[in-house]
Amino acid sequence: MNFNNIKKIAAEKAVEEIKSGMVIGLGTGSTFHFALLKIAEKIKTGELKNIICVSSSKQTEQKANELGVPLTTLNELYVSSLSSTVILQSIDLTIDGADEVDNDLNLIKGGGGALLREKIIVQASKKFFVVVDESKRSPKLGMNFAIPIEVLQFALEAEKKFLESHGAIVTIRETGNGEQLITDEGNIILDAKVNAIENVDEFASVLEQRAGIVENGLFRNKMVTSVVCAMNDGTVKVLSNRVSEKKQKIKN
Ligand code: A5P
Repeated sequence: MNFNNIKKIAAEKAVEEIKSGMVIGLGTGSTFHFALLKIAEKIKTGELKNIICVSSSKQTEQKANELGVPLTTLNELYVSSLSSTVILQSIDLTIDGADEVDNDLNLIKGGGGALLREKIIVQASKKFFVVVDESKRSPKLGMNFAIPIEVLQFALEAEKKFLESHGAIVTIRETGNGEQLITDEGNIILDAKVNAIENVDEFASVLEQRAGIVENGLFRNKMVTSVVCAMNDGTVKVLSNRVSEKKQKIKN
């Protein structure tokens, strides 16, 4: 089956979760692109009404505008909330792709350079559906994909050394023209290739403690509601996250 068709199957399956009246977080990347097309189609046909979306990147924002998908900003969403109680998760559902998914449903994200805004959108979401094809699954994170790490320009060389001191082979992300890629928030991306990560929580904490690292591309499984994985034969597996379910039960 054609690779794009497989991505489309996963993306469209996740869009079935969207109901009229919801606030939707929009991801970034080639798999999410098919979700955006489907959302736009459903809005156009009237199947989805009263939808408002928040984009995780300038790239998706532009596409959403072209497709007539209504957008607001994250700030506006919180400011306009009529509720008097404190609401931490103002987005009902976010759909986004991933670069690598392990057996515990931890993720590597940021292949498109949007990991910082993507993580902010996910932490503002009640549910997070990840859309991938089966090539993204691996027993342990780091086996197939480098971890994208967003760093301040000021700290670039220092953080590169820091990552190397943890055994990573580090490259500075470039644009197609060979210039350093600057993220939507004005930072640099370092791609840190490590060996298979034995303990994702532990490694993420190491990265989180560095002042010059703005954000890292490890999305721990407690952030994930479900992974919608399209298989090469066109079938779909929905992997629900027990860790996230438990967390929701404790909160209720
Ligand atoms: C964007 O920064 C990323 O996190 C993407 O969601 C991720 O790279 C998956 O992209 P594809 O769907 O294009 O593989």
